Order: sequence, then structure tokens, then C-alpha cells
Amino acid sequence: MPSVVCRKIMEDERLLDIELRVLLEAIYLRYHYDFRSYAMSSIRRRVAQAMVRFKVDKISDFQHDLLRDPVLFSEMLQYLTVQVSEMFRDPSYFKAINTQVFPVLATYPSLKIWVAGCSSGEEVWSLAILLKEAGLLERTIIYATDINAEALRKAESGTFDVDRISQFSRNYLAAGGRHSLSDYYTSAYQGAVFDRALKRQIVFADHSLATDAVFSEVHFVSCRNVLIYFNKQLQDRAVGLFHESLVPLGFLGLGSKEALQFGAHQNDFEPFVKEQKVFRKVA
Ligand SMILES: C[S@@+](CC[C@H](N)C(=O)[O-])C[C@H]1O[C@@H](n2cnc3c(N)ncnc32)[C@H](O)[C@@H]1O
Repeated sequence: MPSVVCRKIMEDERLLDIELRVLLEAIYLRYHYDFRSYAMSSIRRRVAQAMVRFKVDKISDFQHDLLRDPVLFSEMLQYLTVQVSEMFRDPSYFKAINTQVFPVLATYPSLKIWVAGCSSGEEVWSLAILLKEAGLLERTIIYATDINAEALRKAESGTFDVDRISQFSRNYLAAGGRHSLSDYYTSAYQGAVFDRALKRQIVFADHSLATDAVFSEVHFVSCRNVLIYFNKQLQDRAVGLFHESLVPLGFLGLGSKEALQFGAHQNDFEPFVKEQKVFRKVA
């Protein structure tokens, strides 16, 4: 039987979760951002960090302020969404896309690619570079979507801190890049600015995997390191959107810690490059 101290801790955690659920419901009703089906462990951590940053002790006080202050909410959004990214992150994934998926995509006269949860653009600019080197960029439209407007603005600017570039360059070569990454950017006061010509084929847009519907038919969905923040029900919703959006035999790429196993759509896809989490829609 749990000790008195243990019972007290468990009770406190239960009450905290109730308060968090009320907060997420309030955010949804006020701002239509739906975090109600995100993994609770991650939400707990993120809200706690935000409360330290904004110097509030009680969730109810935080809720009061958030409901009345849209600027505070947009700052809070930076805590609720995780923005960690890197160009050619997990280079072996990009290598698999480059060497195994692109040759199949090359058989289509025109292509549509959806990068869902694109954050500040590292993944989408990486794909644009590899598509260019494969001679496919000119016939491709890439939809880069996210719920974080600030991240989307950064993504669209194609500007990254110069101190991140050496890591990006190493990743680019490990991913099978054929030139030097420096061929694609110029160094400016604000950072490394990537070639505008790559951006001509990219459409940046606000889209939520939690509340929005499918918007186009695509040949390849890359959604990496997003599903890990969702509970199972929301993961099923998101993968359902990808399935609906993909052409028969279209491709789906996930993050290294993500899987389709045990999900509602596990039988709708088969592994294509299993170790790199690349799947193919069953026709
Ligand atoms: C960790 S980043 C992943 C960035 C990139 N895909 C990568 O792997 O480097 C997760 C991104 O998912 C976005 N995100 C969170 N919830 C989302 C939702 N409901 N719909 C679309 N994007 C979402 C976040 O704003 C964030 O930009």
C-alpha cells in the first residue's frame, strides 16, 4: 500500500493534470489551438517551463492572463511547441530519400511533397537542395506547414545562424550532397541566407494536424519529430490525414523515434526503407 507521502504526491499530480486539462480546454476555446490530445508528460514539462519564464505560480492565474492577453499566448506558443530542428537532421534519412525514394518520384511528370510540422524550415530547405541536385525541383511543389507562425516566418526567410552551418554542412555531405553546402547560401549580417531560387517551389502555410483537413494530393509526406508530441488518438488522426493525402503507393517519412506500429493505420502502409522510417502507402 502506498505511504501517506506517496498518496499525497499522487493526489497532487492528479490535481495538476486536471488543472492542465482545463487550461488546454480554455486555450482551445479562446484561440482554437488544440493541444488537448498532446502527450501529457511533454505538456506538463512545457507549461512548467513557461510558468517559470512568466513568473506565475498557479495554473489558474496563468490561465486568467493567457485568456486576456493574445501577445502572452503567442509567447506561450513557443513553449507549447518544440522547435528543435537541424538541416539534414539524421543524414541517413535524407540519404535514403535521395537514393531510394527520389528515383521512384522521378517517374512522375510532376510532384507534390508535404513537409508537415516544418518548424523553422531546416527540413524543407534540405529537401529542396536534394531535389535540385536530383533534377526534380523544377517540377515539384513543396507544401511546408506548421502551427507556429513565428517558426513559419523564419522558415520562409531561409536564414540560419552561421554558427549552425558547419554542422549542417557535415550533415549535407553525410546525406549524399553532391556539392558544397556553401554553394546554396550567402553569408550576410543576419546569418546564412539560402538561395531564393530554391524557395520558388515552396508554399509555406499554417496548418494544424490536430484541427485541419487534407488540402492536396501529394506523392511524399515528410513528417518528422512531430508525432512524438501527440497521444495515440492524435497520432492516428495525423497519419489518417497523410494516408488520405497520399497518392496510391505514395511515401511517408517519419522521425527516428516514431512508428506506425499499433496505430489505426498500420496496415495502410508497408515499410519501404524500414531502418529510416520510410513507408509506402499500400495501393
Ligand atoms: C521538433 S519540430 C520538428 C521539425 C522538423 N520536422 C524536424 O524534424 O527537424 C516539431 C514541429 O511540429 C510543430 N507542430 C506541433 N503541433 C503541430 C500540429 N498540430 N500541426 C502541425 N505542426 C505541429 C511544431 O510547431 C514544431 O515546429
